[in-house]
Amino acid sequence: MRIIRAKNYEEMSRKAAAIIAAQVVSKPDCVLGLATGGTPVGTYKNLVEWYNNGDVDFSAVTSVNLDEYRSLPREHPESYWSFMHRNLFDHVNIDPARINLPDGNNMDAAAECARYDAVIEAVGGVDLQLLGIGHDGHIGFNEPSDAFDLGTHCVDLTEETIEANKRFFASRDEVPRQAYTMGTRTIMHARKVLMIVSGKDKAEIVKKAFFGPVTPQVPASILQMHKDFVLVADEDALSLI
Ligand code: F6R
Repeated sequence: MRIIRAKNYEEMSRKAAAIIAAQVVSKPDCVLGLATGGTPVGTYKNLVEWYNNGDVDFSAVTSVNLDEYRSLPREHPESYWSFMHRNLFDHVNIDPARINLPDGNNMDAAAECARYDAVIEAVGGVDLQLLGIGHDGHIGFNEPSDAFDLGTHCVDLTEETIEANKRFFASRDEVPRQAYTMGTRTIMHARKVLMIVSGKDKAEIVKKAFFGPVTPQVPASILQMHKDFVLVADEDALSLI
């Protein structure tokens, strides 16, 4: 595990974007595992800027997103499909045929999860997986539990996650209660994992996940065992370690 310290959110975003850009420059046909949420917005902004400057070319990149709400229409502004298009895909030259997310509108959970695992396998696995972390230590929507989840699966969001995500919706009632998410095994099989964390409110979970025991009760803690895990965090997020 390597920790890269950034002064603030902006510097964290630039450093994370630089790592992703380096991946794309060194392997133009790489597979990027991408994340949504508040944290990666600045990272994507930098990538769009560097694409506009001619420094990064996404034409051969394949993307596989971590997760998607179940039952939220794809066109809903808070679907992860919409988020990714708004923040990154609509602004760079990625081939739409190479964009992959779980299909939250396929209500046959078993079929959708099997399809998504097959997609990830068919593209040869993930070269670089970008992650954020939830206050309870979730990665993707792998919530605290008694065992690490394996492949893509359907999850019931915890009360804490619903509470955290309500800021994106008009009301708490509108937050979907379920999601499809890549499993911990898929994340651990990524050849490189890059986590970005910002803010004092994440300091406690950063300490617990990366300086505490490895346990499925803190899903991100498994990353301590990944052979190429980079944590890019700002001073606030690192303030307790
Ligand atoms: C997003 C995802 C989640 C978020 C996490 C942190 O695709 O899978 O695990 O990374 O909930 O979210 P933010 O960045 O909003 O604090």
